Amino acid sequence: MTSSFIEIHALDKTFNMGKVRVRALNKVDLSVAENAFCLIMGPSGSGKSTLLNLIGGLDRPTAGTIRVGEDHLEKLDENALAVFRRKQVGFIFQTFNLIPSMTALENVIFPMRFARVPNQKRKETAVRLLKQVGLSNRAYHKPTELSGGQQQRVSVARALVNRPQLILADEPTGNLDTASGESIMELLSELHQSGTTIVMVTHDPRLIPYATRVVEILDGKIVNDSSPESTNPTISDPKKQQEQNE
Ligand SMILES: Nc1ncnc2c1ncn2[C@@H]1O[C@H](COP(=O)(O)OP(=O)(O)OP(=O)(O)O)[C@@H](O)[C@H]1O
Ligand SMILES: [Mg+2]
Repeated sequence: MTSSFIEIHALDKTFNMGKVRVRALNKVDLSVAENAFCLIMGPSGSGKSTLLNLIGGLDRPTAGTIRVGEDHLEKLDENALAVFRRKQVGFIFQTFNLIPSMTALENVIFPMRFARVPNQKRKETAVRLLKQVGLSNRAYHKPTELSGGQQQRVSVARALVNRPQLILADEPTGNLDTASGESIMELLSELHQSGTTIVMVTHDPRLIPYATRVVEILDGKIVNDSSPESTNPTISDPKKQQEQNE
């Protein structure tokens, strides 16, 4: 058993735009405990999405290493990285990223297309997940026929299809009204309490009480790292708190 779930060492990401080089991440070291609810905060352009995308294997670093669970991402070829993303990570984005021509149900079924599971079983799983996010009565609606909050709940259901150990969320409440945002946070909180590790980018300090850890980045560097007191009962466990402080 390893001491942390995510281990990042000397992570660098430079984007080359013609003559302009943007150093989005600058020697970032970070370890995140299993079952943490970690917020990444910081101003626009500070490198938050870049960091999240690298943790999720959506992009490759310029230098440095990332381990997630047993997977050392730099050692994975493109195919293995795709398998890692599919099996270990559930992604939630600010703009929901649903497929517009598909119903809610079809959107949730979509990530199961590679799994060796019969169609009927896929449908049952999607129906169960839509129920879990409170959308049983919208299964046959397309994204344009859903509110923003409902679309985001579909995308949470979709993120859960392969039972990921890790949820990566990039400003999942950024496009939502307060009430819809709260319902998404409640869903994430339930997942956290059932043992999922969550790393979430947000601008919203009102979400800090949901977190076990708040990492602030500025100009591609971590400038602040704290473990706030939380009202969440699962994280008052002193052993977990200690792990998170490491
Ligand atoms: N694909 C890319 N090509 C070139 N530059 C990029 C690319 N992605 C990000 N950048 C640059 O890297 C820096 C960090 O971007 P990033 O998207 O990580 O910021 P962020 O903290 O998520 O900002 P925001 O809060 O606005 O979403 C920015 O200066 C951005 O312009
Ligand atoms: Mg961003």
